[in-house]
Amino acid sequence: MQYGKDVAKILVTREEIQKRIAELADEINRDYKGKEYTLVVTLRGAVPFFADLFCKLTGNKVDCDFIAVSSYGATTESTGEVRMSKDLSSPIKGKHIIIVEDIIDTGITLSYLKKLFEAREPASVKVCSLLDKPSRREVEVEGDYVGFTIPNEFVIGYGLDYDQKYRNYPDICVLAPEVYGG
Ligand code: IMP
Ligand code: MG
Repeated sequence: MQYGKDVAKILVTREEIQKRIAELADEINRDYKGKEYTLVVTLRGAVPFFADLFCKLTGNKVDCDFIAVSSYGATTESTGEVRMSKDLSSPIKGKHIIIVEDIIDTGITLSYLKKLFEAREPASVKVCSLLDKPSRREVEVEGDYVGFTIPNEFVIGYGLDYDQKYRNYPDICVLAPEVYGG
């Protein structure tokens, strides 16, 4: 795909993404061998990552469920406030869950999710995030499985959006600062 001037550069290519997802799947397959567990996916940004990861997991007891939360408006800065617009379909009490996220930025969303889920008494909670921007952290929270640690740049593509656009781009790209007046 040929990108226009909205893209400053490609940060992670589709090939690099797939290679890393295979490694993450190997780790999860090893750690959860013989276990029953559920991937809890955050809509909408984590969907492409989830889809590619899910089909690489082995065993016949891997389930998935979805939750929709948002903290961003049409800006590149977190509002600091998390809203849930769709809850999980099934209870997680007594279950092993892995939260699947697109990116950990300030950490506000992830810490909200961890608190929300822990109150429901699952057997365990782990976090698998495609991207991590540790330099932006405001709340102390970490991923157990992280695809790529990236610098402080606003990225789009492979599920990640700016103002609900660019999610369909196949690579992880740095958004041109002109787009958001940066
Ligand atoms: P946090 O609550 O600040 O950690 O932000 C988490 C959410 O913000 C992610 O799930 C994304 O939806 C969004 N986000 C954070 N950084 C970026 C970025 O660089 N590009 C696109 N979305 C981002
Ligand atoms: Mg988002």
